[in-house]
Amino acid sequence: MLKIIVNARKLLPWAVGAFIIVFLIGAGFTSASTPFPPLGKARSHALAEDGKLGNIQNATLGFEKIFVISLPSRSDHRDAVVLASHLTCLAVDIVDGITHVDDKAQPPGAEKFTTTGALGAWRAHMNTLQTIVKHNTTSALIMEDDTDWDIRIKSQMQNFARASRLLLQPISGTAATYLDPTILHPEEALIQGAQTFDIAHSAVPQATSSPYGDVHRWDLLWLGHCGASLPRAENHLPLGRVSISADETVPEKQHIDPQLGDQQLIQQYSDHTRVVSRAYMNTCSLAYAVSLQGARRILYELAIRKIDKAMDLSLQDMCDGVNDRPGLTCLSVLPQLFQQHRPIARESSFSDIDKRQDGADMAEEKYNNIAFSRNIRWSTRGNLRQLVYGDTNYTDLFPDGMPKPDLVG
Ligand SMILES: *[C@@H]1O[C@H](CO)[C@@H](O)[C@H](O)[C@H]1NC(C)=O
Ligand SMILES: *[C@@H]1O[C@H](CO)[C@@H](O)[C@H](O)[C@H]1NC(C)=O
Ligand SMILES: *[C@@H]1O[C@H](CO)[C@@H](O)[C@H](O)[C@H]1NC(C)=O
Repeated sequence: MLKIIVNARKLLPWAVGAFIIVFLIGAGFTSASTPFPPLGKARSHALAEDGKLGNIQNATLGFEKIFVISLPSRSDHRDAVVLASHLTCLAVDIVDGITHVDDKAQPPGAEKFTTTGALGAWRAHMNTLQTIVKHNTTSALIMEDDTDWDIRIKSQMQNFARASRLLLQPISGTAATYLDPTILHPEEALIQGAQTFDIAHSAVPQATSSPYGDVHRWDLLWLGHCGASLPRAENHLPLGRVSISADETVPEKQHIDPQLGDQQLIQQYSDHTRVVSRAYMNTCSLAYAVSLQGARRILYELAIRKIDKAMDLSLQDMCDGVNDRPGLTCLSVLPQLFQQHRPIARESSFSDIDKRQDGADMAEEKYNNIAFSRNIRWSTRGNLRQLVYGDTNYTDLFPDGMPKPDLVG
């Protein structure tokens, strides 16, 4: 059993103080240093340190960068994402969203897109991947600007990393023996079915180039989605799962909304359990981390080779290794760590891809009266008031022992 979640209520005033200091020092450093120092002794030495779990406490969650894709016109989204990142000690780089893609610039298949919004969203993700490749960025987290996370995201991501290492790294002291036998022997999957390993498993392997597992061992970590499934033997993916049990940041089952995913988490695991596995049938590109290798592969496949369906479904094909896409190594987590936030607003304001139909009567449109993010207990967006004023009585929309609240949208 694991209980390493710290009591954030007690720690927060300290965290805020520490953050102000780190922020001031950080501001001094960034203006003085070049963003991409030449590779030298200092950098290669630093590389060996990059795998430390403690780095996840840094302003980029142990990745080299965090990018947030945001349309310049959605100033409301920008205000909220900048404030939410700042209050949880995350440093984000904003990437402009795209509303128009020249016909001549569209790769094969793009004629299948029916909305300019979906094509623009694809392009904004490709621009971000292009930046990662251009700057040789080792790993980066890419988020959309309506994404939310728990106030305790850093301890959650440390647990995720302990789980992802168990699925990606060879067992300590071996070169190529894995905890999950189905990584090397997929035929084992049909005999054994899916095995679940506890996050506290003793074979904890070290990683060197990233706290989440060496960057050459993974392409994508699908941390924010609107539904995913746990792979089954017939999906031809490694089946190993790692469970993070007694995680108080996971709501009780009655509150869990699988959205477009399957029911296995609810059916097979106890309350307050989070499960990390290979990604399967993930939808929505709300938040995902890529290694440089992953960024190169996605940029090649989706920007140059072809794009014939929405960006997230194309990524899903790559992670699942289906529909004429070679498989990537993608991990996912249920329930997700990043989620779409639904603020108090008109429902049509939620999406830039699906526009409100012209002529629809604004007065008849549904209005969302409760700010929420499915499956996220101490939502950062839902607690901006508390965080700004230093009130530690956080809103938890999904308290234990209570029925699921009635949410729209
Ligand atoms: C956070 O840690 C990662 C390596 O684990 C490193 O690449 C990155 O530069 C660090 N970010 C900051 C802001 O220090
Ligand atoms: C990118 O970074 C890697 C690892 O730090 C290095 O080996 C490689 O030479 C770099 N490539 C470029 C083009 O800077
Ligand atoms: C915390 O907030 C809830 C909901 O607004 C309220 O009912 C409760 O009394 C508050 N608790 C404290 C200790 O202020």
